[in-house]
Order: sequence, then C-alpha cells, then structure tokens
Amino acid sequence: MMQEGEKIACLTCYDATFAGVAEAAGIDVLLVGDSLGMVMQGHDSTLPVLLGDMIYHSACVARGSSRCLRVVDMPFMSYTTPAQGIGNAARLMGEGGAQMVKLEGGRVIREVVHHLADHGIPVCAHLGLLPQSVHGLGGYRVQGRDQRSADRIFEDARILEEAGAGMLVLECVPAELAGRITDSVSIPVIGIGAGPDCDGQVLVLHDLLGVTRGRRPKFSQDFLAGRGGIQAGMEAYQRAVKSGTFPGPEHSF
Ligand code: KIV
Repeated sequence: MMQEGEKIACLTCYDATFAGVAEAAGIDVLLVGDSLGMVMQGHDSTLPVLLGDMIYHSACVARGSSRCLRVVDMPFMSYTTPAQGIGNAARLMGEGGAQMVKLEGGRVIREVVHHLADHGIPVCAHLGLLPQSVHGLGGYRVQGRDQRSADRIFEDARILEEAGAGMLVLECVPAELAGRITDSVSIPVIGIGAGPDCDGQVLVLHDLLGVTRGRRPKFSQDFLAGRGGIQAGMEAYQRAVKSGTFPGPEHSF
C-alpha cells in the first residue's frame, strides 16, 4: 500500500465484535494497543498492563478478524533484553495470534528489535511520545519540538529500520518532522498526532467513537458524531485517512 501511495488506515481494537466491525468498515490494520490499560481497564497510564492482558485481548481480536493485519503491543518492561523480548513476543504470537509486535523506544531497543526480526518476528517500532515512558518524559507531551530531540528521533527511526523494524508508529511529533522521517525510511510510517504526511494513521477506537474519558486529544476526531452507527463512523474514518482529509491542520502540531 505504501509503495502504491495508498494511505493505511489503522485503528486500535480490543475485542472480537469491534474487530469484525472494523474489518467490515475497511480498516487495514488492527492495533491491540496497551492503551487498553486506560480505555478498557480504567488505569491512568499503560504501565499496569500485563502480558497476560495483551494475550487475552489479542486472542479476542484474532477470533473476530481475518483480513486485517494484527499488531500487538508488548507491555511495559516486557522487552528489556533480547531473551526476555523474544520469549514474550513468542507468547503474543503463539497464544495471542499477533502477526506483528510493537515496541516503544529508540536506539536503546535496537538489539531487541534485531533479535526478534532475525527470528522471523515482524516488529513495529514506536517513536515520539512513548506512553510507557510517561514519567521519564514528564507527561503526555509533544516530542521533537527542539532541534536536538528532533534529530534524535530522526536518527532513531533510521537505526530501528536498520535493526529490522518493518513498520514505525510516530506519536505526537511535529508534522514537519514526521514528514521528513516518512521520506527518509523505506518502511511504512503510521502517525498519531504526527500530521498528514505519514503513510497511514492510527486512532484509539474510543476517541473515534467519541467516548474518550476526560479530555479528547487534539489529534483525534469523533467520527461517530452525526453518523448512523459504529460501522458508519469507522467507514468515515477509513475514507478520511484514504483521501488524506484526516488529519487536518487542526489535529497537527
Ligand atoms: O497503545 C496504543 O493504543 C498505541 C497507539 C496510541 C499508537 O500505541
């Protein structure tokens, strides 16, 4: 799709029913995100999410979908070494039906990414705002605003591609930086709060449905508003991503 210039529509998903509806709405990639810690479990961060939680929700999504690519988050502290990472990724794939695993972090995880990719496990990297590092980052803030941190994120993208990552999620970075990274790597870049120039977009399901707890993130949109049902809302999101009308300037940094 990237090579053909078709935008990739990705949505988070945590259960079988929504997986089936998203698939019917034409969504390309289902991300079983550790955001489930917040939207399903009611925590105020993703840190309490356990590997068993990810396996459970991934297996639910796997039972409800067949066409979409299933990408599953590796939870907090489940990939601190190559050996730990491969054992846990194997469980996400074997028990949870994951087809690709997503890891947060820059060059510090290059060896883990390399080890997984070398063993045939497709890896999605995640740069920019790293929710698992929220305390280290001092909050949920846009990353890469100054030259030094922008350069670091830019270099990390190249390093992780070289280590074997097959896809990259960029969260909450300035649109200009996301565009440069998308141009410079040869793997698909999926943005969330990263402007319109990525190869695709991802939204958290609950934001798309307009049932965000607390303040709705600037980069999200309620696609259900004014539409007849959940599948219609998802179809509207899919069309907006494919046609490049979402995200607009009002959703970008
Ligand atoms: O956990 C998640 O839902 C994510 C997306 C915000 C990209 O990682």
